[in-house]
Amino acid sequence: MTKTEGFLKEAFAGESQANRKYLAFAAKADQEGYSQVARLFRAVAGAETIHAHSHLRALNGIRSTKENLQEAIAGETHEFKEMYPEMIEAAKSEGQKVAERSFNYANLVEKVHAQLYQKLLDNLGKPQENYSYYICPICGYTAEKQAPGKCPICGAKGEMFKKID
Ligand SMILES: [Fe+2]
Ligand SMILES: [Fe+2]
Repeated sequence: MTKTEGFLKEAFAGESQANRKYLAFAAKADQEGYSQVARLFRAVAGAETIHAHSHLRALNGIRSTKENLQEAIAGETHEFKEMYPEMIEAAKSEGQKVAERSFNYANLVEKVHAQLYQKLLDNLGKPQENYSYYICPICGYTAEKQAPGKCPICGAKGEMFKKID
């Protein structure tokens, strides 16, 4: 890896994190009644996404949809097979309950994500079906076609799920 490639990866990670952080800060500012601050956090978050995507393109990180699905499956699989199990163990042994729950929810959901991606990868050459996804606002559990009555991972009510068209 060249120095520039390493910096592009670092900058992509940093800009991606800034985007998610600013969106969380915007929601908090809205809760506290600071609507203009919220707007600025959302505006800058949008700009950070532009930076992140530009760095990713410079890394040739966006390929064909088939390759992108394969990469997504590999990433999700790494997370539930290696990354989160180790993190869950560490949180358990350090008595960090909040972190343990957070890792555990993500771990369980990544497995579902890998399956959802795999299904569309397997069907890539075939006529496309069109349907929505529903995501749990607590644990991120992702359902196809309709929200479950109750989240199978965290127990949240199905009415709370967010529809993705
Ligand atoms: Fe995931
Ligand atoms: Fe959930």
